[in-house]
Amino acid sequence: MRLILLGPPGSGKGTQASLLSEKYDIPSISTGDILRQSIEAQEELGLKAKKYMDEGALVPDELVIAMVKSRLIKPDCERGFILDGFPRTVAQAEALDSLLNSLGYSLRAVINIDLKDEVVIERLSGRRMCKRCNRIYHVVYLPPKTTGICDDCGETLYQRDDDKPEAIKKRLQVYMVQTTPLIHYYQEKGKLISINGDREVKVIHEDIVKRLV
Ligand code: AP5
Repeated sequence: MRLILLGPPGSGKGTQASLLSEKYDIPSISTGDILRQSIEAQEELGLKAKKYMDEGALVPDELVIAMVKSRLIKPDCERGFILDGFPRTVAQAEALDSLLNSLGYSLRAVINIDLKDEVVIERLSGRRMCKRCNRIYHVVYLPPKTTGICDDCGETLYQRDDDKPEAIKKRLQVYMVQTTPLIHYYQEKGKLISINGDREVKVIHEDIVKRLV
């Protein structure tokens, strides 16, 4: 099973990727998480990416494409994978096509999670994340058992720098201009499955699984 999760910031890609990863026992690969880990480790890639991410802009294609290439050739991707947050531009989608060709892999589907801007803003403003295991929470919709502490690993939760109002606004604009052309791109290839993201997490998950049968 090889899947792409597409959708605006905060539409629930990471939340659904984690459920699908468990269901199909395949890795979930989030370019956002890899970049944040690289920033935390003060690696060269992270240092280059940070200024773009903080202001809600996209990291240059060549950096992200190289990063995904080195991840997809790992043995744990042989049985399948879920790409969360990649591709995000037509250039990235074309690069992914040639990489998949060269590896002899084909995509099962591109899940496009649809959500209105008002809901996105509400979700991102309340999101909290675990620094250690990347588990995603929401102060109202998916709160941890103890406020501010990860249920799984006990680490303190934090709010992402790009979940502040100005950066959210910019991310929505960037999504509209640079990423929505991918909806047409994958529709033309007969791979697109559109999903209403304004429902409960479990209901959305079950809908995706049903549409993949
Ligand atoms: P990235 O980390 O990928 O951010 P994003 O795409 O903006 O998506 P998010 O992680 O914000 O949201 P999500 O859709 O995963 O939603 P989530 O499940 O967390 O990228 C960050 C930055 O990295 C980019 O801006 C860019 O700079 C750079 N980058 C990354 N990939 C790149 C690429 N390919 N090219 C170039 N640059 C790249 O859910 C959000 C909140 O809602 C959570 O609090 C959650 O608990 C809650 N929630 C989820 N589902 C529901 C539900 N059904 N009902 C109620 N609440 C829900």
